[in-house]
Amino acid sequence: MANPALTILSVSAVLLGVFLNFSIHKIEEGHVGVYYRGGALLTTTSEPGYHFMFPVLTTFRSVQTTLQTDEVKNVPCGTSGGVIIYFERIEVVNKLERSKVYETVKNYTADYDKTLIYNKIHHELNQFCSVHNLQEVYIDLFDQIDENLKKALQIDLNAMAPGLMVQAVRVTKPKIPESIRKNYEAMEGEKTKLLIAIQKQKLVEKEAETERKKAVIEAEKVALVAKIQWEQKVMEKESEKKMSEIEDSANTARAKAKADADFYRTNKEIESNKLKLTKEYLEFVKYESIAKNTKIYFGNSIPEMFLDPSTNAAAAGAASKHIPETSTSGSKK
Ligand SMILES: *[C@@H]1O[C@H](CO)[C@@H](O)[C@H](O)[C@H]1NC(C)=O
Repeated sequence: MANPALTILSVSAVLLGVFLNFSIHKIEEGHVGVYYRGGALLTTTSEPGYHFMFPVLTTFRSVQTTLQTDEVKNVPCGTSGGVIIYFERIEVVNKLERSKVYETVKNYTADYDKTLIYNKIHHELNQFCSVHNLQEVYIDLFDQIDENLKKALQIDLNAMAPGLMVQAVRVTKPKIPESIRKNYEAMEGEKTKLLIAIQKQKLVEKEAETERKKAVIEAEKVALVAKIQWEQKVMEKESEKKMSEIEDSANTARAKAKADADFYRTNKEIESNKLKLTKEYLEFVKYESIAKNTKIYFGNSIPEMFLDPSTNAAAAGAASKHIPETSTSGSKK
C-alpha cells in the first residue's frame, strides 16, 4: 500500500503548483497590468515583469501603451443620395499614455478602444457620408477622408479621454454597388476616350499648323528670291544707265573742251591777225610778194607803183597798162 505521508506531500505539491500557476502572471514590455477583484477595478497597476496575485479572486488585464493599430472592418456608409457603400477596412493608429492607463480603464473599461475608436469611427464616417454624394465620397473628397477622420477623432478624444492619441487613420477605397461601379468604369472609359480624341485633334491641328507654317516659309522664300532678283535687275539697269550717262557727259565734256579749244584758238588767231594786219605789215606783205615775182619789168610807170594805190588808183591802172607795152618793146630792143 502507498505511504499516506507521501500521498499528502504529492497532493500538496500539485495544489502548490496549481496555486502558483494561477497566481504568478507576466506583464509584457510595453504593457501595464490592471487588476479586478470581485468585478471592481483595483487602484494598483503593474509594470512589465512577473507578478503575484490571489488566484481566482483577482483577475488581471494587460493594457498596451505602445503604438497599436486598431482595425475597423466593413463600415457601412449611406451617402446623401441614398446609396449604401462599404468601407472595407479602416485602420486607426493610436497610443495610450502610460500614466493615464488606470483612469482610462476606469472610465471606459479595458476595452476602451471599442467605445472610443470603433464606435467613433462608425459615427464620424456616417456623418461625413450623409452630407456628401457618392461622387464626392468615392472620388472627389476621398483623399481628404483620412485627415478629416483623424481630426474629428482627436477632438473628441481630447475631451473624453485625454491620454489617447490618434497618430494616423487609413481608409481603404469603399466598395460601391456593382451597377454603379460599372457606370463609373464606363464613365472613366468615356473620359479616357474623350481625352484621346482631344489629343488626336490637337495633333491634327498641330500638323496642319506645321504644314501652313512650312507653306508660308516657302512662299516667303520665293518672294524674297524674286525681290532680290528684281533688285539685282534694277541695280544692273541703273548702273547701265549711270555708265551711259557718264559716257555721255564725258563725250560732252570732250566736245565742249574741243569747241572751247577751237574757239580759243580762233580767237587767238583773230587777235594775232588783228595785230598783224597793221598798215606796216600789209606793206611788208606787198613788198614780199612783189619781190618774189621775178617777171617784173620796170618801165616808166614804175614810180607810180610806189604811190599809195588808194590815192592814185587810176594812174596805177594806166601804168600797169603801159607795162606790157614797155616790156615787149624792151625785150625786142
Ligand atoms: C475620466 O472621466 C473623468 C470624469 O468624466 C474625466 O474628468 C477624466 O478626464 C477622464 N479621464 C480619462 C483619462 O479619460
